[in-house]
Amino acid sequence: MKVLALNGSPRKSGNSSSLLKEFLNGATNIDSEITEIVADKADIKSCKGCLKCNVYKECVIKGDEWSQLSKSILEADTIVIASPIYFHHLPGPLKLIIDRFRSFVDVRVTEEGINHTPWQSWTKRFVLLLSLGSSAPDDAKPVIDLFRYMTEIMGKQNSLEVLTATRLQMNGQVKMNEQRLSGLYPRIGLSERLAHNDYLRNQDFLKQAYKMGQLEPSN
Ligand SMILES: Cc1cc2nc3c(=O)[nH]c(=O)nc-3n(C[C@H](O)[C@H](O)[C@H](O)COP(=O)(O)O)c2cc1C
Repeated sequence: MKVLALNGSPRKSGNSSSLLKEFLNGATNIDSEITEIVADKADIKSCKGCLKCNVYKECVIKGDEWSQLSKSILEADTIVIASPIYFHHLPGPLKLIIDRFRSFVDVRVTEEGINHTPWQSWTKRFVLLLSLGSSAPDDAKPVIDLFRYMTEIMGKQNSLEVLTATRLQMNGQVKMNEQRLSGLYPRIGLSERLAHNDYLRNQDFLKQAYKMGQLEPSN
């Protein structure tokens, strides 16, 4: 099974990286071949809006890592995206990658809206591991909606699973022990009394990510 992991966080030991690590640890138990890309380090140019992909059925931008990355995307059985939420959306470097997905689809404007039809229908498992500073999961809605749309247009056989890990503001917070959380919370304006439950909850986020990694695509 081929797994492509896209990490949207610029933080080396951030919450997204911890969740992704757990997922990939789970995935190594099922004989998987893993390719991991940190969006912030990837050399991916922005989509130029030239629309030539509508003619050539591939992106014509040269001189970056897209051709290698697009091959990994097309070959993957599972695409796991671990990312922080920035202003209710994806951080810029990851959005650059997602915009280049334009080259995987034919786009036709209709009187009612717009139709996206993939050049090739996909059968993939998409997994989102989203890390938020907010206590409310709603901030991740635009990203979840985006991937719901993406999985839908790319083929009926695609699936989408989402883990939304909330109240994680600081670098590495999801892995902090209870004592560190108790020390941190008053400094960032949160009540210390939340620390005990949040520690257990964060452990559960990591466990859930591990379990998601252990699952194979069902189709
Ligand atoms: C520029 C920026 C914008 C952010 N916007 C949001 C937001 O809209 N909603 C939210 O819940 N958290 C927001 N956050 C907080 C991060 O999503 C959160 O700290 C996350 O856990 C960071 O993940 P990481 O450690 O993997 O980088 C923002 C952080 C930054 C730096």
